[in-house]
Order: sequence, then structure tokens, then C-alpha cells
Amino acid sequence: KQIGITCVAFSGGQPKGGVDLGPEYVLKAGLIEQLNEMNFKTVLTDNKIHDYKEFFPKSDEPIGIIKRPRTVGIVNKILADQVYQHAKLGRLALQIGGDHSMAIGTISGMARAVKERLNQDLKVIWIDAHADINTPQTTETGNLHGMPVSYLIGLTDEKIEGLDWIVPCLKPENLVYIGLRDVDKDEKQILKKYKIQAFSMHDIDRYGIGKILDMTIEHLSKGPYPNSPIHLSFDIDALDPTVAGSTGTPVRGGLTFREGHYICEALHDTGRLVGLDMVELNPAIGDCHEDTITIGCSLIRATFGESLL
Ligand code: ARG
Ligand code: MN
Ligand code: MN
Ligand code: MN
Repeated sequence: KQIGITCVAFSGGQPKGGVDLGPEYVLKAGLIEQLNEMNFKTVLTDNKIHDYKEFFPKSDEPIGIIKRPRTVGIVNKILADQVYQHAKLGRLALQIGGDHSMAIGTISGMARAVKERLNQDLKVIWIDAHADINTPQTTETGNLHGMPVSYLIGLTDEKIEGLDWIVPCLKPENLVYIGLRDVDKDEKQILKKYKIQAFSMHDIDRYGIGKILDMTIEHLSKGPYPNSPIHLSFDIDALDPTVAGSTGTPVRGGLTFREGHYICEALHDTGRLVGLDMVELNPAIGDCHEDTITIGCSLIRATFGESLL
């Protein structure tokens, strides 16, 4: 089996430098060798780490409160095509980030390929401390890494320059969140309004991660295609900051090392995984970036089926 790997050295969806170094550190930690060792053939997009800088607009003034909309827009448009190219060949698609605004591109590209190949809707599991479902109307920060899900679902009609190419490709009933604990007030309203399945840290405390994954898979098995493909978008800040602290918006009270890995293992066991984003690794933050990078690599291996026994 082949894995198409796209390295997204991009930080424009948020203000902190260093998250663009994520892919370089993950590759330096030996990820490709590890995946090859697991008998995957790996294909690195254009054989390089992409910073997409040659496509950046000369100037990118905020539009209202929204920061760098044209830059985030063009990077994601190109990224969507890169992911689509791998997926349409039947490769698994791994995207290493980079800030979470890149999920606009990764999920757009994967959903397009799944539609074309199978005529089915893509399902998404979003692992995060945050819901990243702000709209241009509700965002308090203007950072696009807090808004990708609203663009993927199509929650705003407002056409913002640079982001106007995005075609909604995710139905609210095809999305499940796990790990939430820092959700903005308006985001809570959106989750309710669209009846999105969301498991907070409280739910994990209550039911345990095993039961949460059972409920997640069950939710994503409703409808006409119970075995339809699943994309996993994993924000490393879902993990507790004591476990993986090198990330831009850490929030206390997160997933343990094992809970994070269990999610990946359980998803692998469904046989339905088609894509994985590993995002918001920022080696410039904190004094434990080696741990965070190592854990990112091991979560990736777990998702692609590394077994404990
Ligand atoms: N809710 C906040 C915002 O909209 C934080 C988002 C953090 N997102 C992330 N991908 N780390 O700005
Ligand atoms: Mn987050
Ligand atoms: Mn907040
Ligand atoms: Mn996120």
C-alpha cells in the first residue's frame, strides 16, 4: 500500500512562527523510514517540503477581522489538488503541518476524490481541544486556523477574496469531534444548531476512550454507506500540554498519550481510514519539542496500523 505524504510548512492561519517547521522536524525524526519499515511505499509530494511561498500574494491586508485570507486561500487551493492527486490513485494521504487552516485543503481534496471514485460523502473525525468552527462573523481572533470546519461545511455565504473557491464538502452529520475543551461561545451555538456529534473531555472522563470510539464509529456508520471512507484530522493540541506541549494554543486537561494513540488504533481497525492530517506541531514553542515531534510520528504510525503486539 502507498502513502502520499504532503509536507505543509505553513503558518499563515495563525500568528505564531515555528508551526511551519513541523514537517521538517517530523521528517528529520525518521518518519519516512519508519513507514517504509512498516512496508508502506511512501511518495512525497514533489519530493520536497512545501512552503508555498512562490504562490503568496504580494500583499494580503486583513478583510474585516480575517487575517491573511488570500494567502490561506491560495495555499489551501494548491494543497487540495495535491491531496486529490494522491487520493485518486488510491493512495492513503498523509499531511504534516502546519497550522490547522490547512484542513480546508486536505479535506476538500480528499472529499473530491472520494466523490469521484465511490460517489460517497467523506466522513471526518476531528481530534482537537478546539472546534475550529468559527465563521468570519463569529471569530474573535480573525485567525483562519479557528475556522476551517465552517468553510468545509459551508456555514457562511460571505465571499471573502482568496477563500471564494471553497466548495462545501462536509455534511454536519458526517463529522465527529473528540477532545474538545476550549470552544468559543458562538461555536457552542453552531454545534447545537447543526446537531454535530461532539465528545468533550468531560465525555471522555465519563465513558472512557474505548466507548467514545465505539460511539464515534457508530455515528459515522449511519446512512446509506456504513463503510464510507474516514479522514482523521488530528490537532496535536488535543493531547494534554504535559504530553505534547510544543503547540501554539495549548489547553490544560487534554488527552493522555494512550488516549491519543487509542483513537488512531481504533480508527485503523475500522479499515476505513483514507487520510490523516497531523497538525499544529510547533517545535519553536516549549522546551519539549522532541517529545511532541516523537509523539506526532508515533500517532501517525498508529493510524497506519502499527500494532502493539
Ligand atoms: N477558537 C480560537 C480561535 O478561533 C482558537 C482556535 C485554535 N485553533 C487551532 N487550530 N489550534 O481563534
Ligand atoms: Mn486546537
Ligand atoms: Mn478560547
Ligand atoms: Mn485545530
